[in-house]
Parts: sequence; C-alpha cells; structure tokens
Amino acid sequence: MNTQGVDKKRRRTLVAATSVVGAIGAGFALVPFVASMNPSAKARAAGAPVEADISKLEPGALLRVKWRGQPIWVVHRTPAMLDSLPTLEPKLVDPNSTVPQQPPYCANPTRAINPTYFVAIGICTHLGCSPTYRPEVAPDDLGKDWKGGWFCPCHGSKFDLAGRVYKGVPAPTNLVIPQHTYLNDTTILIGQDEGAA
Ligand code: FES
Repeated sequence: MNTQGVDKKRRRTLVAATSVVGAIGAGFALVPFVASMNPSAKARAAGAPVEADISKLEPGALLRVKWRGQPIWVVHRTPAMLDSLPTLEPKLVDPNSTVPQQPPYCANPTRAINPTYFVAIGICTHLGCSPTYRPEVAPDDLGKDWKGGWFCPCHGSKFDLAGRVYKGVPAPTNLVIPQHTYLNDTTILIGQDEGAA
C-alpha cells in the first residue's frame, strides 16, 4: 500500500479545512475593525479637533500635528525667544495682530493663550508652502538680525517666533493661528475654543 499518497491527501484536506476557518475568523475580525474606523475617519475629514501632547516638548523644540489635513505647529518658546519678540516690532507688517489671523484670545503681544507655547497653522500666507523652522539666532544665511522664526523656501517670506510676517517679503499677513484650548497643562486641543468641549 502507498502510505505516502494517503498522507499527502490527508495533509491537503487538513490545509483546506484550516484555510476555511482562517478566512471565517478574518471576516469576523474585520467587521468590528471597519465599523470602529469609519466614524473617526469621517470625523477627521470633517475637521474634528485633535490633541497635541506637549509633555515632552523641550524648550526651543517644535511639535507637528495634523488637523483638517493641515500642518499645525506647537513651539515651546524659551524666555530668550519671548524677549526677542518686542524688539522686532519695527521690522514687522502687523506687529499688533490687527488683521484677524488669530482667534481674539491670541490677539496679544505673544499671539498665544500661554506665552510659552505658540500654536500656528504651518502654511505660508503667500502661496501656501510650508515654511522651515529656523530657531537659531543670527545664522549666516538669514543675517545677524535674525532672532529665530520661520523662513519660507518658496519665495523667501520670513516670520518671527510669534508667526508675524516681516516687512518686504511676499507674504502679506501673519501666520494663521487655529482655534485651540488647553485640556490640561500638557494637552492642547486644536480646532476648538475653550468652553466648546
Ligand atoms: S509661498 Fe511662502 S513665500 Fe511664497
């Protein structure tokens, strides 16, 4: 008797049976996954608020999150960075944030709820490139008067560390600040005002 042939046949049967069980199992596993994904994907597309965890954001560092498909920046400004802001006013187009590029609660000298953390939409107000974070003071390419901020590589617009646009560059207005609020000391909710939660 050819036992090898019987074994092969048995193995094929077992493999087929296992595959069917596997397929059924995968089907059941997929249903709750898809069901749980759809509402949040829809909410994200509609612009649901997103949380930014700033607990590990070092002084001087920038955190990026995404909201409504846009880059959102959160910068942990140092005392030296904050001290530089008033000194730049003569070089800026709108140092007092008179153009409503921010919610009313950020129309102040640091353009922030808490001066230490600056939140902005990371899109240049000229033609929509994403500017580069340049926190260093007086780098060779930006000159001895540079005190940190953003430089747009597309056409050379410059913004300070409060997102205020410099005079003499193509961007006409300050960077936009989105609605946001603090859920606690280390969590910022982007896309929603205080009290709307
Ligand atoms: S898009 Fe930024 S300078 Fe033109």
